Amino acid sequence: MKLWGGRFTAEPDELTRQFGDSIHFDRRMYAADIRGSIAYAGALAQAGIITAEERDQLIAGLEQVRAEFDADAFQIKPGDEDIHTAVERRLGELIGPVAGKLHTGRSRNDQVSTDLRLYLLDEMTVLREALTALQQAIVDKAEAHLEAIMPGYTHLQQAQPLLFSHWLMSFFWKFQRDQERLTDVARRTAVMPLGSGALAGNPLDIDRESLAVELGFPAVSENSVDAVSDRDYVVEFLAWAALLQIHLSCLAEDLIIWSSQEFGFVRVDEAYSTGSSLMPQKRNPDSLELMRGKSGRIVGHLTGLLTTLKGLPSSYNKDLQEDKEAVFDAVDTLKLELPIAAEVIRTLTVNHARMAAALDDAILATDLADYLVHKEVPFRESHHVVGRAIRRAEELGVPLKSLSLAEYQAIHPAFTADVYEVFDFRRSVEARDTEGGTAPQAVRAQIERAREHLKAHQIPGRRKGDESATT
Ligand code: ARG
Repeated sequence: MKLWGGRFTAEPDELTRQFGDSIHFDRRMYAADIRGSIAYAGALAQAGIITAEERDQLIAGLEQVRAEFDADAFQIKPGDEDIHTAVERRLGELIGPVAGKLHTGRSRNDQVSTDLRLYLLDEMTVLREALTALQQAIVDKAEAHLEAIMPGYTHLQQAQPLLFSHWLMSFFWKFQRDQERLTDVARRTAVMPLGSGALAGNPLDIDRESLAVELGFPAVSENSVDAVSDRDYVVEFLAWAALLQIHLSCLAEDLIIWSSQEFGFVRVDEAYSTGSSLMPQKRNPDSLELMRGKSGRIVGHLTGLLTTLKGLPSSYNKDLQEDKEAVFDAVDTLKLELPIAAEVIRTLTVNHARMAAALDDAILATDLADYLVHKEVPFRESHHVVGRAIRRAEELGVPLKSLSLAEYQAIHPAFTADVYEVFDFRRSVEARDTEGGTAPQAVRAQIERAREHLKAHQIPGRRKGDESATT
C-alpha cells in the first residue's frame, strides 16, 4: 500500500508509477535520511508526541535499516517510491506499528530537502579536500620548475616570456576562488528546512533549534513555504561545479596543446594517456580531453535545473524531484576528475629545453620598446619604432637581435650598443618583479602565499554538517 493510498481506490498506472519513482537514484541519500529521522524521533519525544520508549524503538529500528543499507543488503520493494518511503516501509517491517508514528507532523517535502542538504554538505567536504589536493599538486610542481621559461601566449600567439611556474600558478588562484565560493554555498546549504511540514509548518511544537543542533545545522529556515521549495543551494552548488569544471577544462586545454608534438612543452604520464587502435604511434591525452568534455554535462545540469525551476508555483511541486540526479552526477564527475587532475599535474614531465627552443626573439619586442622608454622615448613612439625594426629584420631575413647597430640607429638614434642586452629571455622575466608578475622572486612570493591558503584549508574539528567554519 502506498503511503498516501488512503483516498485511492485503485493502484496507480504502472508506467506512471515508474515515471514518478526516484528510489533508483535517491537511495544514495539513505544515511542522511536516517540521520534526519533519528533526530526527528528525538524531537517528537521531546515534544511529548511519542514516549521515550517509542523513540528508542524507532531509533533502534532506523539503525538496523541503516545497517542493511551499509551492508548492501537492503531490498527495494515495488511500492518503494523513494528513499523516504523505502526506509519507513522497512522500519514498519522491523518494529511494527510504532513505525507509523515517525512521520507525525513531517512531510516528505521538508524531509527531502533536509536530506539533500545533509548529503551535499558531506560531499562538499570530500570535494573540498580533493580540490585542495589539486592545488597542492600545482604549488609543488610550480616550485619544482621555477627555472623553466616558456613563451606566454595571448590569442595563442607568442606574447611575452613567462615562467612555466607562473602560468601553472595562474590556475591555483582560480581554484582558490572555487574554494571560497564553496564555503559560501555551504553556508546557505547549512540551513535546516525540517519542521516546515508540507508547506505550512509544524503543529506539534517541536523544538527546531535543538533539532538543528542535533543535525549540525547552524541555522533553521525562516519560512516554511520558502523552505520546501528553496533549491537555491542546489543551483548555487551546480553553478559552483560548472565554474570549477570550466577551470579544469581550460587547464586541460593548455596541457593538450602543449603536449602535442609541435609544442612538446610537457608530457602527460602514460597512466593518463591512451593509445590508438589503429595508429601504433599515438599517445592521446584522453584524460585531459574528457576533463574538457565533461563541461557539457555539468553546465547542462545547471541550465537544466534552472529551467526546471522557472515558473514553478509556490511551495513544493513534484518537478523539484528533478534536482537530485543533476547534483549526484556533478558530485560523481568531480570526485573522479579532481584526483585525476591532481595526478596528471603531479606526474607531468616538463621539458625546459623545448620551451626555451620555442622562444622567438620577437617575443622580446615589448622589452625592446621598454628599453627605449628608459632612454626617454615616449612609449607610443617606441612601440612604433620597434614595429619598424621588426619589419626591417623581416626584410633582411634576420632575427631581431642580429640587426646591426647601424640599422637600429637608422631607425631611431636612441638605440646604443647596449640594445643587444635586451635579447635575454631571463632578463625579460626578471624585470617583471612587481607583485603578481612573472619574475622568479615574485612567483616565489606567490607560492608562499598559496601555501598559506593551503594551510588554512586544513582546519580540523568541523562540526558535522557545518561548513561555515572552514575556508
Ligand atoms: N521523491 C520526492 C522528491 O524528490 C520526495 C518528496 C515527495 N513529496 C511529495 N509531496 N510527493 O522531491
